[in-house]
Amino acid sequence: MTSRLVINRPDDMHLHLRDGAEMQDVIGFTTKRFGRAIIMPNLKLPVTTTIAAMAYRDRILKSLYTEGGFRPLMTLYLTDSTSATEISNARSSGHIIGVKLYPAGATTHSDSGVTDILKCTPALEKMAELGLPLLVHGEVVDPKVDVFDREQVFIDRILAPLVQRLPELRIVFEHITTQAAVEFVLDADSQVAATITAHHLLYNRNALFHGGLRPYYYCLPVLKREREREALIRAAISGNPKFFLGTDSAPHARNAKETSCGCAGIFSAPAAIELYAEVFEQAGALERLEAFASFHGADFYGLPRNKGKITLVRSAWMMPERYPYGADEIVPLRAGEKVHWALAD
Ligand code: NCD
Ligand code: ZN
Repeated sequence: MTSRLVINRPDDMHLHLRDGAEMQDVIGFTTKRFGRAIIMPNLKLPVTTTIAAMAYRDRILKSLYTEGGFRPLMTLYLTDSTSATEISNARSSGHIIGVKLYPAGATTHSDSGVTDILKCTPALEKMAELGLPLLVHGEVVDPKVDVFDREQVFIDRILAPLVQRLPELRIVFEHITTQAAVEFVLDADSQVAATITAHHLLYNRNALFHGGLRPYYYCLPVLKREREREALIRAAISGNPKFFLGTDSAPHARNAKETSCGCAGIFSAPAAIELYAEVFEQAGALERLEAFASFHGADFYGLPRNKGKITLVRSAWMMPERYPYGADEIVPLRAGEKVHWALAD
């Protein structure tokens, strides 16, 4: 059995860092493991302009403990009124790597998101022209559609027509959760790729109800049934460069999770790469982890692969029950349970 794995330093292609004291408390988990991370723009005040994205980037850089070389890759939050000029500004900033589509009301801080994708045509056409990728939260918000079917319906109603209309547009289907999404990505041309989280690879929807209601397994898109999880594993370990790592680590304080209407989001950053190693090991595909975690994402975004390495060892450790988080605390994925791989210093 492999007990030590040296891989190129990975990138997290989908991360929520939040801001202020909360960011300060979580950023170190990511910088320890990843060379770069794509930072989601869904702050309380969404990052809808290049100026706001640059200011957020400065705050992130200032909050780093060391000069270790971690690079935040910024995104812009798409709205109905994002202009083609704003897209050009984003591109010429040199630091904005993509534009995030949240259907309005789909998830945390998505109220300013897109109400009708056709309203975004000028922005999307400019993105296609400039090669700036669209990062998609792929769920419809139609209350008539079952929560567990929202990704599939999004493909049919929004994504497939979009790809037809703008075949040049580069698209990352974020945190995919279903076999339908895997198949859509496989059938599309090389400009369409997808991220997969560790939690969607590790758990199915039973985790939400195991012995009671479990808010720390609630995220969006919600965990799906076992056969969908199996389809995700097959995609992740396939070696196909269209699939790459994006944790969607989404921190929320205890008081926002342990309440009558808890927020969506799973905080996996404290064991992000270790948890993916578990998945790949269980699937007998540890030798494929490096490409999924360190090569495919960088290649899709046209970035050089990271130069450094990280070492993972097969040595179990206990995830703490909680960590400090601003004025509150935060409960990580696997709290009080074993994580089977560890990062060697
Ligand atoms: C994310 C968050 O909390 O910002 N939550 C989540 O469940 N993934 C938003 C998102 O990516 O949907
Ligand atoms: Zn997310």
